[in-house]
Amino acid sequence: MSASRRTFLLSAAAALARQKTFAANDKIRFALIGAGGMGSSDTVSALAAGGTEIAAVADIYQSRLTRAKEKWGANIATTRDYKEILARKDIDAVIIATPDHWHAQIAIEAMEAGKDVYVEKPMVQKVADGLRVWEAQKRTGRILQVGSQRVSSIVYKKAQELLKAGAIGELNLVEAWWDRNSAIGAWQYSIPPDASPETISWERFLGSAPKHDFEPIRLFRWRNYQDYGTGVAGDLFVHLFSGMHFVTGAIGPERVFATGGLRFWKDGRDVPDVMLGLYDYAKSDAHPAFNLSLRVNFVNGAGETSGFRFVGSEGIITIGNGVTVTKQPRESEPGYTIDTFPQATQQEFLKKYREKYPQQEAKADSMRANGESRYLPPPRYNDHLDHHANFFASLRSRQPVVEDALFGIRAAGPALLSNRSVFEKRQILWDPTNAKVKV
Ligand SMILES: NC(=O)c1ccc[n+]([C@@H]2O[C@H](COP(=O)([O-])OP(=O)(O)OC[C@H]3O[C@@H](n4cnc5c(N)ncnc54)[C@H](O)[C@@H]3O)[C@@H](O)[C@H]2O)c1
Repeated sequence: MSASRRTFLLSAAAALARQKTFAANDKIRFALIGAGGMGSSDTVSALAAGGTEIAAVADIYQSRLTRAKEKWGANIATTRDYKEILARKDIDAVIIATPDHWHAQIAIEAMEAGKDVYVEKPMVQKVADGLRVWEAQKRTGRILQVGSQRVSSIVYKKAQELLKAGAIGELNLVEAWWDRNSAIGAWQYSIPPDASPETISWERFLGSAPKHDFEPIRLFRWRNYQDYGTGVAGDLFVHLFSGMHFVTGAIGPERVFATGGLRFWKDGRDVPDVMLGLYDYAKSDAHPAFNLSLRVNFVNGAGETSGFRFVGSEGIITIGNGVTVTKQPRESEPGYTIDTFPQATQQEFLKKYREKYPQQEAKADSMRANGESRYLPPPRYNDHLDHHANFFASLRSRQPVVEDALFGIRAAGPALLSNRSVFEKRQILWDPTNAKVKV
């Protein structure tokens, strides 16, 4: 047996040995790494999922640790060093809600330390890290779920069912967009007055990112910088890819082309605030070939909207507030454009045409149904709660999660390549099966 195979078997056996099973009454103890906006929301949903308790929180900014104790009790452990959390034996799972540039590293270290992982989208900041996370998931046998909650949404599930049942005929185009017109929508998050080198472990924030002098705006508005974030594509396109892949069963485009620019929010950011992406999806067992267009606009004068249109040969499925199916009956005859032909030709044409399509008398019962059906989720439906409930259910059952590392890289990959396409002004070819860049 080769040394590498032996190492693999040993580590797989070690992973199995570490596999913890939970009795029905056992609480799953989790820790939060990165206690900002989303980490806090994740914790709320993780606790609401039931059968869970929060044991510890790590963040490199002291005041977020103070706030964590205010919210979840003075008895939780807090630290600025996430490695202390991974070393603890009393923690089963971690939620990783740091800036994007930390996702892959902490996720891999956590799985190697025997923790199950819920990692926020985008799963990785760099495409190549996607395969490393996927490998680590397989090697360690841990559970990893990516945090794009649409994959657990009953609204997206309904759209999936309708599409599969042929509600709009054959799919040919998907359009999705996300428009915002506010400072907070454009990521101008608050910078606290106590931000200082004493309250913030600056080097721990930077991690593997390029060295930079202490500058709080780069931490509190990290999305604005390529060093830590992933632009509108990694922040928002990735949600659209995840939701769309879930609805259609697609695994990713073969061709990525994106364009955009920084039009309005010239606040020092080095990423676009308007971005358009076009993607080619090849035919698969799950769907016909189709095209995708995505748009994010942070300068949309008319306000904030986000939505999806799945365009088929028989109708359109829209996802906005719930799911809407709009159908227009296809014409019963194709019609003709013969006016520019000589009269004799017109007559000959019409004779043949009427042989093929006999004239229908317009009667009430010759009218065809045209319609719209709407499917609304129950009031206060929360897909984020469902996504966490699914994660913790998988921890108990050891059954696959709804959004694993492979799904995560197949959504993050084309999103991140959209940035590359904008910056390099070229199209990028992607191999969605193997989650690899082709050119
Ligand atoms: N699923 C969703 O709908 C959704 C929504 C918003 C954000 N997100 C994702 O959640 C993640 C966090 O976003 P956010 O808006 O909460 O950002 P945030 O800035 O509010 O929070 C990030 C936190 O991580 C901390 N941090 C930075 N480096 C760290 C490190 N090395 N160790 C521990 N903590 C560290 C920061 O101090 C901060 O408190 C991002 O990846 C983002 O894409 C997902």
